[in-house]
Amino acid sequence: MSVTAVSLEAKKSSRGDNPLGVTGIDHVEFYVNDAEEWARYHEHRLGMRRRAKADRTTGAKGRRAVIVGQGRINFLFAEADGDDPSAADIRQHVATHGNGVKDIAFRVRDVAKSLAHARSEGCTVVRDIEDNGDFVGGTIAAFGDTTHTFLQRKNHDKFAPGYVNVAGGIEEDEIQLMCIDHMVANVESMNQWCDWYARVFGFEEARHFDINTGRSALMSKVMGASEGYIKIPINEPSSKNSQIQEYLDEYRGPGIQHIALLTPNIVAAIAEMRNRGMDFLEVPDTYYDKVPERVGEIKESIEDLKRLKILVDRDRADGYLLQLFSKPLFDRPTLFYEIIQRRGNSDGFGEGNFTALFEAIEREQAKRGKL
Ligand SMILES: [Fe+2]
Repeated sequence: MSVTAVSLEAKKSSRGDNPLGVTGIDHVEFYVNDAEEWARYHEHRLGMRRRAKADRTTGAKGRRAVIVGQGRINFLFAEADGDDPSAADIRQHVATHGNGVKDIAFRVRDVAKSLAHARSEGCTVVRDIEDNGDFVGGTIAAFGDTTHTFLQRKNHDKFAPGYVNVAGGIEEDEIQLMCIDHMVANVESMNQWCDWYARVFGFEEARHFDINTGRSALMSKVMGASEGYIKIPINEPSSKNSQIQEYLDEYRGPGIQHIALLTPNIVAAIAEMRNRGMDFLEVPDTYYDKVPERVGEIKESIEDLKRLKILVDRDRADGYLLQLFSKPLFDRPTLFYEIIQRRGNSDGFGEGNFTALFEAIEREQAKRGKL
């Protein structure tokens, strides 16, 4: 068992801080077998609200789509409809990868400039600029079949052409979700894609990990915007039985492994999500034996954390994080969610939990007399 985690003075990109003019994450687009089913799943289990929809009656072609969200999170679920070529793309993606993330859309200052910069860095433009006055968009290829869209809205009333807003009710829920904390990509070649994010997005490497549990090994580098609001850790398998390799085999290529959703109250959020039937990673009770010595003083009660199986990791003298991972969402063991709360100046990803969980499982096995 070894974990090397190195936090870096972010390496400055030579291309400038933000050559694409990205101002934030707009939405994440999933290609799925059933948009309504997955929208309802997120409403029911994760406390999201319905925000917009698209189908042939609203002027959309090739898809039925529903957007749900909370706070600054917007998830778009699209399924194929009819025989428009765009429907064939969705069907093909779902047949190859199962349900999964197709696109991460970023708001930018000027789509034309973003696409010109991406082209100058050798990116493939899969959808050239579309400008209908209210809405400007364009899309480039990223890792695997995943794409990145750049968009600008000049009329903020509407999600996009072909979409209509739907009333989702007020956002009053035990589950509070604010924004995407980070999104993790599993790829075959970590350095290739870290270099790509440095060149195309001007991202910097904030830290890297090298984790070997004896059973499974992975390397990871965290790429992020210098302002700190977008973080994309990039994983590469470093053993044949690595969980990252399993993902690449099951998803049939690189893709988004998990999305971490930031909450201001993880104890309330996990309690309610469990009530509503959300399944999370098993955490042995023995994990909590070592929490006080590992993490020191925390605001939450260890009894609450143990009851709800919430993980905790201290990443700075003046900060710690609480997190829990869901079971994979879809049929294949590919995408899962992380619910995360940060206290103080926490800026890690729960590296300490790799070792802590591994050792807790060993203590559990020892208790059962299997070690
Ligand atoms: Fe994470």
